[in-house]
Amino acid sequence: MGYENIQIAREDALAIVSVTRPDKLNALNDATLLELRNAFRDLHDEAGARCVILTGGEAKRPAFVAGADIEELADQEPLAAKRRSHLGQEVCDLIENLGKPVIAAVNGFALGGGLELALACHIRLAAAEARLGLPEVTLGIIPGFGGTQRLPRVVGLGPALELITTGRMVDAAEARELHLVNHVYPADQLMVEARKLAAKILANGPLAVRLALESALRGRSLPLDEALRNEANLFGLVSATADMREGLRAFLDKRPADFRNE
Ligand code: COA
Repeated sequence: MGYENIQIAREDALAIVSVTRPDKLNALNDATLLELRNAFRDLHDEAGARCVILTGGEAKRPAFVAGADIEELADQEPLAAKRRSHLGQEVCDLIENLGKPVIAAVNGFALGGGLELALACHIRLAAAEARLGLPEVTLGIIPGFGGTQRLPRVVGLGPALELITTGRMVDAAEARELHLVNHVYPADQLMVEARKLAAKILANGPLAVRLALESALRGRSLPLDEALRNEANLFGLVSATADMREGLRAFLDKRPADFRNE
């Protein structure tokens, strides 16, 4: 499918999704959100794509995503705003529930909807010059693509409420201290490191990765006892896979495992 505002590159089992509106620092207009929705729906269904990197496209001034498109927000009516919020939330939910790890390679500004996209990803890496924040209140609006919910879950309530109510941007070093991003790299190493991380994940049992993600993510909205029961069920389920037998046998045979995603 042809896209105008995003690009998708495939490197075997790795898919790299780039937002490519460089003139607008990759701001998310509705057209871009719809393209991201289609892209992540396809990636969800595509068994051959087993890990995804989401990033801002190459540009003279690197940006991850500088937020929802303020031009479109400027004259929104309440019902249109609610629809836009649902669309942004849907894209973020698709990413979070993709069933395969999504790595955000935050190569520049990740603001508003851009940070919300990154928060829906499972692992966040940042370039040293990245700036992250939820500046919505400085514009008289509130985060609407999940930021008020996912930021507190990632950095804790106190730091999240400070960032949400001040709209302050943090640099990559502070984002690392807050555990908002896992690692910070020089800009020219960001994609190198993101690919290395993806390769590490892709070397593991695909079904095991998928079920471990599912257990961790699903467990957040369950009481501990139910989350543990769910984990035990998934632990049982993974034991039905040929890959589990292969992984354990390979260890005992002192050889690398040959996982087949089955
Ligand atoms: N929506 C629409 N356009 C945006 C945008 C957004 N969220 N963020 C940046 N742009 C556009 C700018 O309007 C400008 O377009 P123009 O050249 O046609 O005027 C272009 O991208 C470059 O941005 P500019 O502001 O000139 O760059 P800067 O280096 O001076 O500032 C930012 C960079 C990110 C600090 C600044 O663009 C900004 O504050 N953007 C809005 C961030 C935001 O509030 N996001 C949340 C929205 S809910």
